[in-house]
Amino acid sequence: MELYEQAKQFVIEASEYIKKEMAQGLTVESKSSLNDLVTNVDKGCETFLYEKIMSYYPDHRIVGEEGHGHDIQDTDGVLWIIDPIDGTLNFVHQQKNFAISVGIYIDGKPHSAFILDVMNHDLYHSSPGGAVYFNDQKLERIEPSPLETSLICLNARWLVKDASQTSALTLAKKAGTVRSYGSSALELAQITTGQVASYVTYQLKPWDFAAGLILVERLGGVVTTETGQPINLLQASGLVAAHPSMHKEIIEIINA
Ligand code: IPD
Ligand code: CA
Ligand code: CA
Ligand code: CA
Repeated sequence: MELYEQAKQFVIEASEYIKKEMAQGLTVESKSSLNDLVTNVDKGCETFLYEKIMSYYPDHRIVGEEGHGHDIQDTDGVLWIIDPIDGTLNFVHQQKNFAISVGIYIDGKPHSAFILDVMNHDLYHSSPGGAVYFNDQKLERIEPSPLETSLICLNARWLVKDASQTSALTLAKKAGTVRSYGSSALELAQITTGQVASYVTYQLKPWDFAAGLILVERLGGVVTTETGQPINLLQASGLVAAHPSMHKEIIEIINA
């Protein structure tokens, strides 16, 4: 089976794994702080995907949030960047509104991307040919819209952080309306369907944006760091994703 089709199957199987495991109850641990959580299912899902990928493609490399590939220094060859559960706080508190995010890059160039909204059974995906789909529906390029009447997503913690308070609040006041859904993968994915006009945040890891970046850019969107610099696939960074015209306006506002 072709890599894209095989990866899609792995992601769907991983969502079945999550649903089966979450029915048994969760074991929750905190990582860097009381609100930075990980569960047995986050770890188990990453291991599930890691073992599948390695058994089919032993020469591929994997970077995953819960421990795999954190020492990888370059993007040579086939690289899978995986978040086994994006939106762990939603997973723990709500048992919904979380996603599996998988971006595949070959020698640093986008190959394919998958964001699966597990409980809604909605798959946002893109094949190596460049088309982007919401389930079976082929998506159109992102349309421009005025910031003043648009719905944008902002990271809620960024809004209350002292150092960035002014720029985040200025942006929030200028936007039509603001949401914070707590899953960067789903916030990026919803740009592709036009439900969200932009996603702006101050600190993400590669597994949070690797798949969403491919989906948004393939529909004509722009994704950069919060200062407008190109994204480095192996580095943590802030992120602004939007149609080019709105992207430019947001970069100007938050860097004024
Ligand atoms: C988190 C979510 C959240 C974002 C955090 C991420 P996780 O990922 O994407 O929306 O604001 O920065 O760490 O830990 O739930 O996979
Ligand atoms: Ca994440
Ligand atoms: Ca995660
Ligand atoms: Ca996490």
